[in-house]
Amino acid sequence: MKIISTALEMQQAALALRAQGKRIGFVPTMGNLHEGHLSLVRLAKEHADTVVVSVFVNPTQFGPNEDFAAYPRTFEADRALCEKEGVDLLFHPSVPEMYPDGASVSLVETALSRTLCGAARPGHFDGVCTVVAKLFHIVLPHVAVFGEKDAQQLRVIRRMVRDLRFPVEIVPGPTAREPDGLARSSRNQYMDAKQRAQAPCLRRALDESERLFAAGERDPRKLVAAMRALIAECPAAKVDYIDIVDDETLQPLSGPIERPALAALAVWVGKPRLIDNTVLRP
Ligand code: PAJ
Repeated sequence: MKIISTALEMQQAALALRAQGKRIGFVPTMGNLHEGHLSLVRLAKEHADTVVVSVFVNPTQFGPNEDFAAYPRTFEADRALCEKEGVDLLFHPSVPEMYPDGASVSLVETALSRTLCGAARPGHFDGVCTVVAKLFHIVLPHVAVFGEKDAQQLRVIRRMVRDLRFPVEIVPGPTAREPDGLARSSRNQYMDAKQRAQAPCLRRALDESERLFAAGERDPRKLVAAMRALIAECPAAKVDYIDIVDDETLQPLSGPIERPALAALAVWVGKPRLIDNTVLRP
């Protein structure tokens, strides 16, 4: 596995691979890798000849009250996991390499970012779009994999690719879970045993919405209320939001569910804020 830290060297490597007719698969990450990230690497391998992983903690997607400096940086462990997983190229740039001094051009997303996680994190998805666009220009992938766990991010990236005509195929990766249903996340380690035991309530709430939906319930308010009731059974859990929105526009629903809808929730369980989601398809 080759480790590359400059944009120029990465672009040259990507162009050389393309000249050999190789299909490049790309998994962007912020590092602190876990089984969820690795499942995306395996999926990328199925879609490509060469797999590139990036590890870059992107400052522009952190808000002023979110601790960019405290984000876990575990490059040695990440490197070992990538090597074990058969990653071909690991791109690990510095902040000035991605954001040259005085950088003044960035992307703005004006529709999908307004609800769910975007509502409380103004500018977050602009930062995600900006860094992913840069990474696409540097890694030159044919295909890039994004986790369904970050449902809003996946939809924002798809919109960016469509609107800016990026020649990149976006492949969604199913959410990797712990045996009890909790979505894998680097934040899970910040719960104590009591909180951890209650954390599967997110998945259980989504299961309940799926069950009621399958039984014919189409009123988003009733489905949200049922999810809220389930979360309320867990004393360690504090709801940030529970919402059902149109799966394409991510806008709130004004009536019954008649098109695919995204049920999404963000819940604090102790220190970490956990997210999960499911798509309800009529
Ligand atoms: P990060 O949080 O490191 O996540 C990298 C990728 O892993 C994302 O596509 C995310 O959806 C996926 N992922 C996380 N947990 C997962 C799980 N349990 N199962 C499957 N996939 C999972 O998302 C980011 O980084 C950044 O915003 C980034 C896109 C790299 C831009 O900076």
